[in-house]
Amino acid sequence: MTKKLLFLLDTDPAPSVFDTVVGYDGGADHVIGYGGVTPANVGALVDGAIFTRGPAEKQFTAIFVGGGNMAAGEELFEAVKKRFFGNFRVSAMLDSNGSNTTAGATVALLAKAKPLAGKKAVVLAGTGPVGLRAAALLAKEGAEVAITSRVRQRAEAASKAVKDRFGVNPKPIEAFDYEARAAAIKGAHIVFAAGAIGVQLLEPKHWQDNSNIELIADCNAQPPLGVGGVEATDKAKERHGKIVIGALGAGGLKLKLHRACIGQLFERADRVLDAEEIYAQAKAMA
Ligand SMILES: NC(=O)c1ccc[n+]([C@@H]2O[C@H](COP(=O)([O-])OP(=O)(O)OC[C@H]3O[C@@H](n4cnc5c(N)ncnc54)[C@H](OP(=O)(O)O)[C@@H]3O)[C@@H](O)[C@H]2O)c1
Repeated sequence: MTKKLLFLLDTDPAPSVFDTVVGYDGGADHVIGYGGVTPANVGALVDGAIFTRGPAEKQFTAIFVGGGNMAAGEELFEAVKKRFFGNFRVSAMLDSNGSNTTAGATVALLAKAKPLAGKKAVVLAGTGPVGLRAAALLAKEGAEVAITSRVRQRAEAASKAVKDRFGVNPKPIEAFDYEARAAAIKGAHIVFAAGAIGVQLLEPKHWQDNSNIELIADCNAQPPLGVGGVEATDKAKERHGKIVIGALGAGGLKLKLHRACIGQLFERADRVLDAEEIYAQAKAMA
């Protein structure tokens, strides 16, 4: 039987261990990782994937683009797709730092808990891959979205990146410390904490008495958690009158989603899985 080969093209120097494991768990027979991949050097790698198998077997070769930088991942994914022509293509997925699968799963759980349209959402520390995708998905659901960063220029660059890619317009907010972040969420209905691993963004007192807040999600699973007073395992748990989702609470769906997407890559030779497709799948699975 033709082996299912997943080529992991990572924009970081070393290919991700996480994405390698989930590649196998999603059904690949072999996961072959390349680090330091750029639009300039990806051509020969794509050619190797598209020119080696006939029409009936091509679906068993697939490409996954990952790495810690969303902009670099997006550029690389575009370069991969640009190299395809006619039937000379394989299925491909973009998930830099778990961006699409993590944001997709978490926003799908928020949307399952309550309607998001018309709500004010603040993505705290939303300048990383997960925050950028979360901001886009929340806005696509009809929420009015803001992105915070410790540095104004980074918040503005993040908003522009989301606007350029998704046509939505998140508001950039500079919020350097606890007080500034508490002020940023004052009138918010939804708080999405997308800060780096092990970084606390809010203490319990900054949100527990805020009666506007209806929904909170925190993606950081490593203590101290992003939102103090939230447990990582919370899954639509009610706390202080708000519905709360912790990183592990969303992590189960994220992993199931990531594996399901890998499986889908091998069903056809022309699947393209990016934010929109992965979010649609997340909503179906939530
Ligand atoms: N549950 C899951 O399965 C899963 C999967 C993937 C990722 N995650 C988690 O999701 C979160 C977001 O991931 P990511 O890759 O998008 O994050 P990231 O790029 O590592 O960090 C996001 C942002 O956090 C801010 N930040 C960094 N250090 C900070 C500090 N000391 N104080 C305040 N802000 C700080 C930075 O924003 P500024 O510099 O602009 O302020 C950074 O852009 C992480 O906690 C990650 O572990 C969870």
